[in-house]
Amino acid sequence: MLLKTMAMVNLLSLFILVEVVVRGFRYGVEGLRMDYYLMSCPFAEQIVKDTVNTALQNDPSLAAALVRMHFHDCFIEGCDGSVLIDSTKDNTAEKDSPGNLSLRGYEIIDDAKEQLEEQCPGVVSCADIVAMAARDAVFWAGGPVYDIPKGRKDGRRSKIEDTINLPFPTFNTSELISAFGKRGFTAQEMVALSGAHTLGVARCATFKGRLSSADPTLDSSFAKTLSKTCSGGDNAEQPFDATPRSFDNFYFNALMRKSGVLFSDQTLYTSPRTRGIVNGYAMNQAMFFFDFQQAMIKMGTLDVKEGSKGEVRQDCRKIN
Ligand code: HEM
Ligand SMILES: *[C@@H]1O[C@H](CO)[C@@H](O)[C@H](O)[C@H]1NC(C)=O
Ligand SMILES: *[C@@H]1O[C@H](CO)[C@@H](O)[C@H](O)[C@H]1NC(C)=O
Repeated sequence: MLLKTMAMVNLLSLFILVEVVVRGFRYGVEGLRMDYYLMSCPFAEQIVKDTVNTALQNDPSLAAALVRMHFHDCFIEGCDGSVLIDSTKDNTAEKDSPGNLSLRGYEIIDDAKEQLEEQCPGVVSCADIVAMAARDAVFWAGGPVYDIPKGRKDGRRSKIEDTINLPFPTFNTSELISAFGKRGFTAQEMVALSGAHTLGVARCATFKGRLSSADPTLDSSFAKTLSKTCSGGDNAEQPFDATPRSFDNFYFNALMRKSGVLFSDQTLYTSPRTRGIVNGYAMNQAMFFFDFQQAMIKMGTLDVKEGSKGEVRQDCRKIN
């Protein structure tokens, strides 16, 4: 009798645990599932991964571009592939905003989509391809490996004016916390996501404003480095950290040395509200990797369109 009761209690707690885990993964987004394409397009993940790996072997700098593309997609109109839409004569799309800030890598998504359309026409959304490609790029560059839920539908809106909702590189910590807070992220998740700046570069245009006056939060010798970069003009590129092609925690170490590139990077260390988090990630890469992957999975579920609220685009650059 006692044994039976104990077994029941165990079963119950197991049930609750499973429930929590499943809900945790879903973030309340009902239609997304890890195995969404299991029956309808079993090689979807592999096709995207192979396409990304081939592209990155040719140009490793594109890992950064793919991660950033997913961020810009999700922060505007939700993760719905809106960032991929080309402008038409009646509509200026997101990608033509000054805020497109040199997004690249669209041809990788097109390439994967073309192969997927051959294998399983009309099944795999462009939004899911972007999400998988970002995940694969992180891993390719040496970051954490993680599984993401799929089943996002593609949206039918992409307007230049919506890009005003992206955070600016001039934002201070309070503004960043509030911009990410509006989308349900904690300050810690915002700092973890900013850690994506362990990959890639920023153009002078995005940080030159910091160089016009003395800034006590900017290391003076690093300020000279930035000025030197800017002598090459507005499009000259400055790596965010010493290893712009590796996904590591050097970005956070740079912030501790007052060598963050954007104002919105350095402010995370300047502000007492987030400094402890920066120190933690600089000291403990495993903790950064763990928090980053959790936050990316969460970012990937922002305002996801399901069922008839979206479509599976045939061509990622055009609404059906
Ligand atoms: C916290 C607020 C953020 C701001 C203000 C910001 C701003 C910027 C700016 C200004 C650039 C340089 C763009 C250019 O030179 O044209 C950049 C690059 C980049 N951003 Fe962010 N970003 C933020 C968060 C994120 C997040 C959450 C991710 C991804 C999870 C991300 C991923 C990237 C990557 C990978 C690059 C390098 C792109 C490349 O080399 O092609 N950023 N960001
Ligand atoms: C970004 O927008 C500019 C116009 O502001 C446009 O000329 C450029 O082609 C766009 N870049 C991409 C990659 O779409
Ligand atoms: C952050 O920026 C906002 C808007 O410019 C300003 O009102 C606020 O005082 C700033 N906060 C800090 C801590 O500097």
